[in-house]
Amino acid sequence: MHFGLAKFSICFIYISLLFATSGCDVVFDAKTTDPSIIEDATLDTFTLIRKYGFPCEIHRVYTEDQYVLEMHRVPHGKLNNSASNRPVVFLQHGLLSSSAEFVLMSPDKGLAYLLAEAGYDVWMGNARGNTYSRRHATLKPTSSAFWNFSWHEIGYFDMPAMIDYVIKETGVQKVQYIGFSQGSTVFWVMTSTRPEYNDKISAMHALAPVAYLSNVRSPLIKALATFTNSLEIILKLIGANEILPHGELNKLAGEKLCLEEAETQVLCKNLLFLVCGFDAEQLNSTMLPVVLGHTPAGASTRQMIHFGQLYKSNQFANFNHGWLKNQIKYGTISPPLYNLSAITTPIFLHYSDNDWLTTPKDVDKLFTKLKTAVGKYKVPLKKFNHLDFVFANDANKLIYNRIINIMSHFR
Ligand SMILES: *[C@@H]1O[C@H](CO)[C@@H](O)[C@H](O)[C@H]1NC(C)=O
Ligand SMILES: *[C@@H]1O[C@H](CO)[C@@H](O)[C@H](O)[C@H]1NC(C)=O
Ligand SMILES: *[C@@H]1O[C@H](CO)[C@@H](O)[C@H](O)[C@H]1NC(C)=O
Ligand SMILES: *[C@@H]1O[C@H](CO)[C@@H](O)[C@H](O)[C@H]1NC(C)=O
Repeated sequence: MHFGLAKFSICFIYISLLFATSGCDVVFDAKTTDPSIIEDATLDTFTLIRKYGFPCEIHRVYTEDQYVLEMHRVPHGKLNNSASNRPVVFLQHGLLSSSAEFVLMSPDKGLAYLLAEAGYDVWMGNARGNTYSRRHATLKPTSSAFWNFSWHEIGYFDMPAMIDYVIKETGVQKVQYIGFSQGSTVFWVMTSTRPEYNDKISAMHALAPVAYLSNVRSPLIKALATFTNSLEIILKLIGANEILPHGELNKLAGEKLCLEEAETQVLCKNLLFLVCGFDAEQLNSTMLPVVLGHTPAGASTRQMIHFGQLYKSNQFANFNHGWLKNQIKYGTISPPLYNLSAITTPIFLHYSDNDWLTTPKDVDKLFTKLKTAVGKYKVPLKKFNHLDFVFANDANKLIYNRIINIMSHFR
C-alpha cells in the first residue's frame, strides 16, 4: 500500500518532469522576456551579486572530514559602503538550495542585499553537495561515499567549520545567524551536539524553522515520506547518491519552461506550490526562471530520508540506520534525540499559517523545547507559504524589516 503511494508520487514527479522536459510543447517568445532575467537564471552567486553592483568575495572552507565548501561574502552594501567595524551575519540556505537563494530577487528584495545595506558584513554558507560545495580531498561526487551524509553531517561538520572560518577571518567574537528551513535544522544539530558553538552566535533568527515535522501538510511530501521506513528500498530505487542533481533541468527551467510566456510556466508554479503551499499572490512569475535556474541545487538522498524520518517519528532525532546499525553506531536500538535543551543562543522563530512544511503546530512544539527561544512571530499574511520566506514579493515588508530591527539589538 505505502509503497504504491510513494511510487505514485515518484511517478507524478517524473511525469511532470518528463512533460516539462519534452520540450516540443514549449511555446515561448524569447523577445518578450527580459534578457536580463534569462541571464540571472544562469549566473552563479558571485557573478549575480557583482552584476547588481555589490561587492562579493569567494572563500573556501575545509571541514574536519575533508569536504571543501565555498562561501560567499558581501562585505558591505552598494550605497552603504563603509567597510569598517561591521557586525557579521551568517546566512544558511534551505534544502536543495544554495547561497543564491538570498540574492536571486532584485537588490531591493534579496535578504543578503538588504542586510549589507543595513550595515552588516554578510556571509553565506553552502552545504556539502550543493552547486558550490562539491569537492572533497579524496572523494568524487560520482561516488556513493561522497554522498554518505544527511543534514546531521552538515550541522555537525559544515556549520562549525564555516562559523569558525568567519570568526577567524573577521576578528569578531560572535556572529548573528539566519537560517531558512534546513538552514535552521543544521543550526539545532550544531548547537545541540557541540554546545560550545552557542557562545559564538549572539542571536539566531529562524525562517520557517524545521525540527518537528509531524504536521506537514504537503500531500507530495507526505506520500514520499511513507517510503522512509524502507531505507534499503529507497536507496536501491533512487540511488544512494545525489537526489535531483543540478544541471540540465535547471537550465531548461531557467531558459525555457518557466518563462513568462511559456505555456509550461503553470507547471513550474504548481510543482513549487504542491510542496510549499499555494500562494500565487507573493510569487512573482517573472522571476520563476531565475528561481528554477538555481534550484534544485543538489542534496543527498539521505538528507531527504532523514527529513522523512522526522515526519514519521514525530521526533527530532539522529539518523535512523535501522535497529542493528543503530545499536552499533549509537549503542541503542532507536536513534538518540537531539538534546535541544543544550541550546543556549537567544532564538527567534518566524513562521506562517499557510506553510505546508513548517506548520504552526510543529513550531509551537519547537518553541516549548528551546529554553532560550525568546520570540515567535507569525507572518501577518494568511497565504504566506514556505518559499515566500525567501522569494515573496513583500518579504521585506512582511518579515525582513522586523528581523533587521530585532538584529539591531544584538549588534
Ligand atoms: C550603514 O552601515 C552602518 C554600519 O557600517 C550602520 O551603522 C548604519 O546604520 C547603516 N546605514 C543605514 C541607513 O542602514
Ligand atoms: C557511510 O558512513 C558510515 C559511517 O558513518 C560507514 O559505516 C559506511 O560504510 C559508509 N558507507 C559508504 C558507502 O561509504
Ligand atoms: C516581478 O519581477 C519583475 C522583474 O524583476 C519586476 O519588474 C516586477 O516589478 C516584479 N513584480 C512584483 C509584483 O514585484
Ligand atoms: C541535555 O543538555 C542539558 C544541558 O546541557 C543537560 O543538562 C542534559 O543532561 C542533557 N541531556 C542529555 C540526555 O544528554
